[in-house]
Amino acid sequence: MKNKLQEIRENAIEQIRQSDALEKLNDVRVSFLGKKGELTAVLKGMKDVAPEDRPLVGQMVNDTRAFIEEAIEETKKKLEAKALEAQLAAEVIDVTLPAKKNNVGHRHPNTIALEEVERIFIGMGYEVIEGPEIEYDLYNFEKLNIPANHPAKDEQDTFYINKDIVLRTQTSPVQARIMEKGKLPIRMISPGRVFRSDEVDATHSPSFHQIEGLIIDKNITFADLKGTLEEFAKELFGPETKTKFRPHHFPFTEPSAEVDVSCFKCGGKGCRFCKGSGWIEILGCGMVHPHVLEMCGIDPEEYTGFAFGVGLERIALLKYEIDDMRLLYENDIRFLKQF
Ligand code: DAH
Repeated sequence: MKNKLQEIRENAIEQIRQSDALEKLNDVRVSFLGKKGELTAVLKGMKDVAPEDRPLVGQMVNDTRAFIEEAIEETKKKLEAKALEAQLAAEVIDVTLPAKKNNVGHRHPNTIALEEVERIFIGMGYEVIEGPEIEYDLYNFEKLNIPANHPAKDEQDTFYINKDIVLRTQTSPVQARIMEKGKLPIRMISPGRVFRSDEVDATHSPSFHQIEGLIIDKNITFADLKGTLEEFAKELFGPETKTKFRPHHFPFTEPSAEVDVSCFKCGGKGCRFCKGSGWIEILGCGMVHPHVLEMCGIDPEEYTGFAFGVGLERIALLKYEIDDMRLLYENDIRFLKQF
């Protein structure tokens, strides 16, 4: 019996030593100490031992059991520590790896262009003031010297809500609203959405954006208008940019002009971008018509001013060399990602 127990003990130790994983160790435990285990079999055989030898043999079996249990426990701890170490090693975070880039949104090219224009004019002391998109005919047309029979009022261009209310076709009505308030001098730009019943194509949309500019003070002259807009063009398109003022007509300004800038692509030599002319039209402007000043309660003998209107999409298309305005409205993420 003693030899048998010694043998079990040695076998157990050997197998415990060879266990390199917790599952294997558990198998060893079951095969020696489990219900059908070797040591349990020995205990079951106690009935055949002579009664006077039983206490001693029992003691020996218990010792062997304790010995094996302890050996298993010890090895279990070692294996658990090893498993934990392996898990930690596998889960370790390499802080030197480049971070995964989060997909953040992009500013729309219109927004970038608007912020650029605002930055330039705020830098010259202008305020940004917004006006309503749904506007009275009175402000959109009448007070801007656009009389009832003017072609711009034609139903084809204007969305009418009723006979007195329209979706504004331009940002110019904000001029009339601000002048009417009577707080002088005025130096403001007014960006916003405008509407015209145009068919959609590469250069037209029924809804687009303009930025209106207005300055009213004593002794404002056409020279101020030229200087301001020349500065604006240089800031926006680069210091080499030249400007050209072409006589034009707007009902609310007199004299009026359209402003071209030298093509920033070819520097004025003529290319596909400027259709060979070397010049690109960017805005309309003029000295505020005395009649408009009067209608808005300002004395044209005392005050003068100039105004201008820029198409925001036009600036964005030019600045980013986009050849189709529809791209600005489709909001295809692959397009927007480029800005
Ligand atoms: N409102 C004009 C348009 O939609 C643009 C414009 C031209 C605005 C000259 C002005 C201006 O203030 O002085 O075509």
